[in-house]
Amino acid sequence: MYPVPLLLTLALVVRVLSHPFAQDKLQAPDYPGVPPAFFNDLVWYFKYATSAYSFFCLYPNGKTLVRLFNDPITDTNGFVARDDTRKEIVVAFRGTWSAVDIATDANVLLTDFVTFGLHPPAGTKVHAGFLFAWNTVALDVITSVERQVSHHPGYSIVTSGHSMGGSLASLAAVTLQANLPGIPIRLYTYGQPRTGNEEFAMFVNDRLGFNSSRIVHTSDGVPTIIPVDLGYRHHGVEYWQRPDPASASTTRRCDADGEDPTCSTMNPSRGLNVAHDFYFGIPAVTPFCI
Ligand SMILES: *[C@@H]1O[C@H](CO)[C@@H](O)[C@H](O)[C@H]1NC(C)=O
Repeated sequence: MYPVPLLLTLALVVRVLSHPFAQDKLQAPDYPGVPPAFFNDLVWYFKYATSAYSFFCLYPNGKTLVRLFNDPITDTNGFVARDDTRKEIVVAFRGTWSAVDIATDANVLLTDFVTFGLHPPAGTKVHAGFLFAWNTVALDVITSVERQVSHHPGYSIVTSGHSMGGSLASLAAVTLQANLPGIPIRLYTYGQPRTGNEEFAMFVNDRLGFNSSRIVHTSDGVPTIIPVDLGYRHHGVEYWQRPDPASASTTRRCDADGEDPTCSTMNPSRGLNVAHDFYFGIPAVTPFCI
């Protein structure tokens, strides 16, 4: 029998050797990067997502505030904004830490994706808590966006969110698309936890394709906090930003289907960590409201 401290030391050595940072060095994939204009868009829409953490954002990302929405019971918050330069209606959702906590305990039931005006294939299931939260504000958001696009022909729709806000933005994107057919839509999420099952992932991939951008910062533990073992699966398209500092050349486009084993999922989840709190060097709760 080896003494316990030696076993512990051995276990630690094995752990350090298999530590993702060690892998980082060994694998050191070359980063083809993304086009700089696309990278700038990733940062741009993150600023909406961070502004959604503000109690009141008068000019989200410097643009026109159309509507604030809020459900006090589920604490679901966000805004609809209009950018008359880019000709876009932007819907941003606030993320909450408590929802991520919920995701870690037993409340990660997958439930049928039933929402307004959307009829996904049978078997499409999503996180019950996220869906409930989205449905509390969905009619408000759909009505507001519908009104905007009818008054502003030629505008497209963008949804954005950080953390759980990313999950809500994902549910919102496919719902808005179904309610407003023919209006171009794009989705940007940052540190989004897994939101639904395989059917959901395929549904989002099918409906949005490369118009869905799911950004993961280095070792952010939240995207993997709800494991695939529970029947969850990520949709695409993951962009893994690593290493820091963030730039177009340190941002890699992963396989479009969502669970690229050479991207962020190769790291075991570390839960809520510092990497979750900063994207592109910007703290996730920064208001860009003037
Ligand atoms: C995807 O985005 C492009 C560029 O904005 C747009 O032309 C296209 O209609 C969008 N596709 C969908 C399905 O909304």
